[in-house]
Amino acid sequence: MFKLTPPLGWNTWNTFGEKINEQLILDAADEMVRSGLKDCGYEYIVIDDCWAMKERDENGKLVADPAKFPNGMKALSDAIHAKGLKFGMYSCAGTLTCAGYPASYDYEFIDAATFAEWGVDFLKYDYCFHTPLIKAKYLYRRMGAALANCGREILFSACSWGIDETQKWIKTTGASMWRSTTDIFDSWSFIKKLTAQQKELHPYNGVGCFNDMDMLVVGMGGRGNVGKESGCTFEEYRSHFSIWCMMGSPLMIGCDIRSMNEETGSILMNRDAIAIDQDPSCNQPYRITDCRYPDEDVLIYARLLTNGDYAIGVFNMGDAEHSADFLLDEIGLPISCGKTLLMRDVWSGKEEMPKNNTVSVRVKAHDCRLWRCKVV
Ligand code: GAL
Repeated sequence: MFKLTPPLGWNTWNTFGEKINEQLILDAADEMVRSGLKDCGYEYIVIDDCWAMKERDENGKLVADPAKFPNGMKALSDAIHAKGLKFGMYSCAGTLTCAGYPASYDYEFIDAATFAEWGVDFLKYDYCFHTPLIKAKYLYRRMGAALANCGREILFSACSWGIDETQKWIKTTGASMWRSTTDIFDSWSFIKKLTAQQKELHPYNGVGCFNDMDMLVVGMGGRGNVGKESGCTFEEYRSHFSIWCMMGSPLMIGCDIRSMNEETGSILMNRDAIAIDQDPSCNQPYRITDCRYPDEDVLIYARLLTNGDYAIGVFNMGDAEHSADFLLDEIGLPISCGKTLLMRDVWSGKEEMPKNNTVSVRVKAHDCRLWRCKVV
């Protein structure tokens, strides 16, 4: 399936792990609509691992666990579609999923047909328990071919964590997004680590197949399946979201949206940040390196947007407050061009302008500034 912008949605794994069931999914779908998340563009409701019975049926088909999904997946998918949302599910390229449920190795075409029958719109495809005898690219091409021939448009979301230089072959599989990081956990150290893992991968992100930096932990507050870490502060979650938007990652919410508070909503539903993520050009973000106070922990990123605006972000990944001074020359606006920027802070709404072609800010530890800038 050809996607023009990074997919947006919600996924069960980060908060619920194996504790999933039909009512939870329906309630989350309702909340997606009621809260305004759907109006902001979030559309996929994705069930991650742990939805199946441990055995296939006599025809080799996967079976949804009736204790968790008493009405089956087709009824659930119909209900989700009736709310104007899309339905996502999960399988794996190995013999078992990461949590030990049956997976699609050598059952690719049967499983793709089952997912199509159930009305699935999105398949996350993991990489645990894979045979060492067959290369990752062959395994992902199998499911890519099966999905492309299943008679239904199903978005292929590959999740091999960047193994075997996934970026070099993933576009041969028909995938619309691919996990370009290891797993996220709900703490600043993971946000920092996953951000660093993108450093060399920006050129591979773009229209049709997006670098997936993993599901968001915004709003988890240290609770849930990947929440055994400390959790993050409001500023850290805001930086996390800003980085994912600046880097054009899919935005898959991982918190319990049924109990989302105002702070969490204000991050996940910041339309200016989402517009940067969803900018139709999907131009590559790049790091500004020519700055007065260089520091490996201070990341300054820019991205040219479709209408000629820029997204610019200063992300202080370090543990101390830091100054950042950078010239506009590096983004193509030397003083000689006679142009400057009108910078609107995405989080405060305040406008400011560079002085002498230089942007000068101080950013607290783990905090960020994110602007949408007009060339004036
Ligand atoms: C991991 C994957 C996670 C989650 C988990 C399920 O491999 O990266 O996002 O899907 O498996 O067991």
